[in-house]
Amino acid sequence: LNYQTARFLTSAPTLAQCPPDSGAEVAFAGRSNAGKSSAINTLTRQKALARTSKTPGRTQLINFFTLGEDADRRLVDLPGYGFAKVPEQVKLEWQRHLSDYLQRRASLRGLVLVMDVRHPLSEFDQTLLGWADDKAMPVHILLTKADKLKRGAAASALQQVRSRLREWEDLVSIQLFSSLKGQGVEEAHARLDAWLLD
Ligand code: GTP
Ligand code: MG
Repeated sequence: LNYQTARFLTSAPTLAQCPPDSGAEVAFAGRSNAGKSSAINTLTRQKALARTSKTPGRTQLINFFTLGEDADRRLVDLPGYGFAKVPEQVKLEWQRHLSDYLQRRASLRGLVLVMDVRHPLSEFDQTLLGWADDKAMPVHILLTKADKLKRGAAASALQQVRSRLREWEDLVSIQLFSSLKGQGVEEAHARLDAWLLD
C-alpha cells in the first residue's frame, strides 16, 4: 500500500458517528503522549496529517485517515488514555468509547499499540491487550521513541516486553520504532499491509 496517499477523512466523538463500517481499518491506540499521532505521520511520510502535541491529551476524537482514492482502507488515530489531568468522569467516558469501538467495529483488522519504549505496558495497555485477546484481535506493538535509548538498552527493552507477552505471542507482534529517526517504518508497513490487504 502507498501510505503517502493518506488523507484526513473525518473525526468522530463516538462510535455512532464513525464513518461507515465497511472495508478495512487499523487503529492506533496507546497512552496519551506515547507518540501515536507522530507514528501515523511518520508511516505516511507526512509532517502534519495527524496533529501531534507536547501537551498530553491532544487527540480527543477518533480521527480517520483514508489510504488511496476511496475510503475502503483507513488508519485510525484513537484518543490517548491515562492522562492524569483529565477528570475521572471524562476518562471513564473515553474508555467506554474505546471499548465500544474495539468490541463492535467490524472493519477493524488490527490494533497498533504504541508504547514509549521507556514506559511499556501500563495498566491500561494491559487492559487493552486483554480486550484484544477477548476478540482475537491481532495487536502490533510499536515501542516508540527508541531514539531516546542507546541501541543496547532499546534492544533489551524489546526483549523484556517480548518475554512478558510470551503468552500472547500468537496475537501480538512487537518492534522498536522511532518517529524522530524513521526507524522501523518498513517493518510496520509490512504488518499494516498484511492486515489491510488481506
Ligand atoms: P495524544 O494525542 O495526546 O494521545 O498523544 P500521542 O500519542 O498522539 O503523541 P504525539 O504523537 O502527539 O507525541 C507526543 C510527543 O512525543 C510529541 O512532543 C512528539 O514530538 C514526541 N514524540 C513522538 N514520537 C517520538 C519519537 O519517536 N522520538 C522522540 N524523541 N519524540 C517523539
Ligand atoms: Mg495524538
